[in-house]
Amino acid sequence: MCGIVGYVGTRGSVEVLLGGLKRLEYRGYDSAGVAVIDDAGHLDTRKHAGKLGILSADLDASPLTDGQTGIGHTRWATHGGPTDENAHPHLGDGGKLALIHNGIIENFSELKTELLASGHEFSSETDSEVAALLVGDAFRETGDLTTAMLQVVNRLEGAFTLLAVHADQPHVVVGARRNSPLVIGLGEGENFLGSDVAAFVEYTHRAMEIGQDQLVTIRPDSVDVVDFAGQPVTPSTFEVNWDASAAEKGGWSSFMAKEISEEPEAVAKTILGRVHDGLVDLPEVVALGEGALASIDRVVIIACGTAAYAGMVGKYAIEKWARVPVDVELAHEFRYREPVLSPNTLVVSISQSGETMDTLMAVKYAKEQGARTLSICNTQGATIPRESDAVVYTHAGPEVAVASTKAFVAQITAIYLLGLQLGQVRGTLSPEQARELVVELQAVPEKLASVLATGERIAELAHWMADTRSVLFLGRHVGYPVALEGALKLKELAYIHAEGFAAGELKHGPIALIEPGQVVFVIVPSPRDPSSLHAKVVSNIQEIRARGARVIAIAEEGDVAVLPHADEVIRIPLASPFFEPLLAVVPLHIFGMELAAAKGLDVDQPRNLAKSVTVE
Ligand code: F6R
Repeated sequence: MCGIVGYVGTRGSVEVLLGGLKRLEYRGYDSAGVAVIDDAGHLDTRKHAGKLGILSADLDASPLTDGQTGIGHTRWATHGGPTDENAHPHLGDGGKLALIHNGIIENFSELKTELLASGHEFSSETDSEVAALLVGDAFRETGDLTTAMLQVVNRLEGAFTLLAVHADQPHVVVGARRNSPLVIGLGEGENFLGSDVAAFVEYTHRAMEIGQDQLVTIRPDSVDVVDFAGQPVTPSTFEVNWDASAAEKGGWSSFMAKEISEEPEAVAKTILGRVHDGLVDLPEVVALGEGALASIDRVVIIACGTAAYAGMVGKYAIEKWARVPVDVELAHEFRYREPVLSPNTLVVSISQSGETMDTLMAVKYAKEQGARTLSICNTQGATIPRESDAVVYTHAGPEVAVASTKAFVAQITAIYLLGLQLGQVRGTLSPEQARELVVELQAVPEKLASVLATGERIAELAHWMADTRSVLFLGRHVGYPVALEGALKLKELAYIHAEGFAAGELKHGPIALIEPGQVVFVIVPSPRDPSSLHAKVVSNIQEIRARGARVIAIAEEGDVAVLPHADEVIRIPLASPFFEPLLAVVPLHIFGMELAAAKGLDVDQPRNLAKSVTVE
């Protein structure tokens, strides 16, 4: 939530800041603003409620006097509505200091009372302005931005990334972080700060991680990091493994359309280099400790939203392949109910952004309780992998559309790799069984490509249904989380009521929702599956059909048994049960996107949402 970018160097900073904010806009789009120190040492700011385009247009029409030092912010409102006044930057020291903030300052009302008592006036309703005024006052006393920021961060409670510039120190940007994201971009004669590497990937691929409770001072030729006690820290560096072009639309109508088209590649790249001699080989798990995988007696998967649905799919697979009990929990529920954990519990967090605060807090809690922690994450240098004992990166590439699509299939792929490795290590899968499953997994990208070809038909259906007010989704076994994912996409993209149900649960209540014309998507298991789930789901379809439902079945090629019972059948290629969810979800992703488009909505930036939920 909130995108942050800082720049110091030789370029005009407005262009760098706006370019960075454009790539970070998925983090929040309620308002945007920049502050720049010009060559004469004057600080100027411009900020506006609404999307970044409004700020850009205003800066085009009446440019700021540019300089080579600046900070920029795109906001997802927490304290105070999305107004011009509440947009960042906020000012301190009589307008000579500008500060931007991501997170929530929990003790802001005490600090505000103190500032009001000492004669300060506030021009916004935000918690962030407190930090701007405090750093401004501290600068007045100390004459140094780093010292001033250090004093203030030690008084703040909650989660924050703060960046500040001061007119009296024109070639300096200071940043600080606690539980909110911040990475450093290293250039030649210029340096960058950003909420994630997308902020600066256009200019440099060299990045540096900054840990919790650390503060960084960037100048054109130097980067200095200290902890909140002021002690120097040597951070580690990494290379960003994708280009700025990966975060561009590249001719697609939306980022989401592009990202859905990249689902085959997301799976393929996540498998790449992780199979040797036909078996899964995840070197990353070594960081969990010698023999850790063999000794664990329980897996707990924690995640939120779409990532949690990927985790639910993973539960079925890990329990089947590795015969270890698996629980899947929403991270925010897990964190605050004192779950029972032991050193033999493996806590697996799943997060595209690696910054979701609910998931981060749950990981920290699990570590404190002595559990082993492994993160499945798509974003290099993010906080959750840093806080975990081990990380298995998904290689889906940057996901810009706010609603997750390609990350979902990459997350399932990664959790399957983990499940297969667990099965191999624990001997619950024979090498032959493991090899067969690996071959199936490796075949998924090609099959996904053929599912994408059904997109046109799904688009037609979505456009016919533009006025639909409610859609239900049914699935069983691994199809159940897919149903939940289909419903979530429709809610968040098309703003219509949608629910996902386990098909077996239907008769226990939800069937009362069925009335003539109700559209129901049903994920139909393979008729070749030795369990009798196919027949059971076909019976469920008959039950809702008898009550007037319009059924859209997602069924594998050659499944003729479903034909008489469905109004429409979307075909997916043959795959054994565990690989079906990877295929069946694609039509649902396309459907959500197309229905939103049919309603004229912004599929990349749905209302009220932000991609990276960095507040609890
Ligand atoms: C839904 C969606 C969200 C995220 C959730 C977790 O389309 O994108 O539900 O899946 O906020 O985000 P990450 O994976 O970044 O932890």
